[in-house]
Amino acid sequence: MGGYGVAIVGHCNPRIVDALKEQSKRLITCHGSLYNDVRADLLEKITKISPKGLDEVYLCNSGAESVECALKLARKYSGRPEVIAMTRSYHGKTLGALSATWNKKYRSEFEPLVPEIKFTSFGDADKVREAVTDKTGAIIVEPVQGEGGIHVAPDGFLEELREICYERDILLIFDEVQTGFGRTGKMWACEHWNVIPDVMCLAKGIGGGLPLGATLAKEEVMSTFKVGDHTSTLGGNPLSCATACATIDYILEENLVERAMKLGAVFRDGLERLKMKYQIVREVRGLGLMLGMELRFDIRNILMRGVEEGAIMLYSGRNVLRFLPPLIISEVQIHKAIDILDSLISEEEDLRTGK
Ligand SMILES: Cc1ncc(COP(=O)(O)O)c(C=O)c1O
Repeated sequence: MGGYGVAIVGHCNPRIVDALKEQSKRLITCHGSLYNDVRADLLEKITKISPKGLDEVYLCNSGAESVECALKLARKYSGRPEVIAMTRSYHGKTLGALSATWNKKYRSEFEPLVPEIKFTSFGDADKVREAVTDKTGAIIVEPVQGEGGIHVAPDGFLEELREICYERDILLIFDEVQTGFGRTGKMWACEHWNVIPDVMCLAKGIGGGLPLGATLAKEEVMSTFKVGDHTSTLGGNPLSCATACATIDYILEENLVERAMKLGAVFRDGLERLKMKYQIVREVRGLGLMLGMELRFDIRNILMRGVEEGAIMLYSGRNVLRFLPPLIISEVQIHKAIDILDSLISEEEDLRTGK
């Protein structure tokens, strides 16, 4: 599970540990209203690798916070209150992010949520087009839905959303909190379709394990925020910025983006073989090292047994196993994980068929 996808460069990567140690001797906190050298370094590093035009960066502490910033930007930039989100979406659990999150399980006890956020079918651009009104200010989407079950945007979908947003002067927000920083075999998942959003949300692995989030936006969008409109006391603190700098350097120097693509294919191959072998496996999905395996039954036993056998796996709902390993995972480790999964699925199938 790689710490819910956070440990993209592994746990306690020596480069991250060194950066943390060094920075902790220099300066641990520095409010965003003051200049800070490592923060400036990080902003430069992010904008060097960001999709073209996404040159403005707001730093915060988590994925949900990066989404909050995007939702507020949408309101301020467009002057329109409505946001279109997707079925099966997940954007976090603060009130705004939760309002754009699909799953009733997370929402129902906290209603009323932020009004005027509505959902349309992920993957169906015609439905999105129908849902747009004169009040729509933004469309928010994950290029690959993670928590919702590892669903990759079908070809043409994001391209059409881009068109709709240009036509109707709506902000296109990509939530790349889970897909960003090489996870899918490209630096950003949106590169698989060559679509650039107006706003992009990042977090998880960005800090190398320390809390950090970022909202990227085009200059004309971000500049609608005036001083004090949206701030965070700890957002972009020097410690997290130092580990984030080390993380980005490590990803680039070690070619982890290409590695995710290559090893993702190895992992997927193993999962596909299990699908051929076992009736209870319904589908294998994903991109790069963001993979899912849908079973025909509840995966609880497999998750619990996996921990005992040395493979900590993640769920996406009741019946999808989600794999978000560190991008430094080795082929040997992948084969070991597949072997463990093989024996666990075999056990489960025997259990289900009463053998
Ligand atoms: C796509 C996406 N957006 C937002 C979030 C929320 O991030 P956080 O848990 O850091 O608030 C997550 C977390 O899983 C996520 O996968």
